[in-house]
Amino acid sequence: MTAILRSEGLHKRFGAVSAATDVNLSVEEGEIVALIGANGAGKTSYVNMVTGYLRPDAGRIRLGETDLVGMKPRQVTRAGICRSFQVAQIFGELTVLENVLIALAIARGGASSGWRGLSRPEWISASEEVLEQFQLAEHRDATAGTLAQGVRKLLDIAMATVASPRLMMLDEPTSGISVDEKFAVMDTLMSALRQRGVTVLFVEHDMEIVERYARRVAAFYDGRIIADGDAAEVLVDPDVRQYVVGGELHRRGGQGGGE
Ligand SMILES: Nc1ncnc2c1ncn2[C@@H]1O[C@H](COP(=O)(O)OP(=O)(O)OP(=O)(O)O)[C@@H](O)[C@H]1O
Ligand SMILES: [Mg+2]
Repeated sequence: MTAILRSEGLHKRFGAVSAATDVNLSVEEGEIVALIGANGAGKTSYVNMVTGYLRPDAGRIRLGETDLVGMKPRQVTRAGICRSFQVAQIFGELTVLENVLIALAIARGGASSGWRGLSRPEWISASEEVLEQFQLAEHRDATAGTLAQGVRKLLDIAMATVASPRLMMLDEPTSGISVDEKFAVMDTLMSALRQRGVTVLFVEHDMEIVERYARRVAAFYDGRIIADGDAAEVLVDPDVRQYVVGGELHRRGGQGGGE
């Protein structure tokens, strides 16, 4: 196995708050890794540092031999890492197909050619293939803003994969999705990403999702990684149970699901 992502000694402060203190995390090709941790533990900050949205105060991040620190998000995408955000980033007034076409145009640098460029037959067929993989074909001509939350999430992640990433970072893929939809959405999205040969790192509060889909778990607490390893071992680690899992169960009891 070869590490495709290596992050070493990452530090990031916001005034008195430490969002990252000596964060070290490497991801092997083909792994599915969950990042867990209470609100404010530093999960999104980590994803933001890797994807160029936040510059670490110190540390190194490399994809293969490429140094990512200092790159803009667009450059990180070109280097091979795509992401999704806690809130789906879609164009609500456009159709599902049009959303994917735009994502494809941006990824391939053809967005300036306007709608005429988007209607190229090869782009339409490439987009339809993506819709098939993400089980979105039946929604092809639906207006994206009218989709159920789970379908909207799938579209959002489908759009992020058209740039053919080696590594996909998903920030809370099941947030806002109903309990009834969450496993179906995750099954579809994990199988689509596997088909595309993508390594996956996802942030998740829902321990049922973590247990079912992640082979490896890294637990964040107060800007640090307090445990990292096989999911089955990390999830029963006493510190993780005290600082992470217990809080999530409490949160679920109080809120009726992840956020
Ligand atoms: N741009 C920012 N400016 C100031 N503080 C920030 C900023 N981004 C994050 N923080 C702080 O850094 C800490 C880590 O935040 P982060 O968003 O990484 O947490 P998280 O683990 O993703 O939490 P959640 O589960 O709520 O999404 C928090 O205390 C947060 O308030
Ligand atoms: Mg977050």
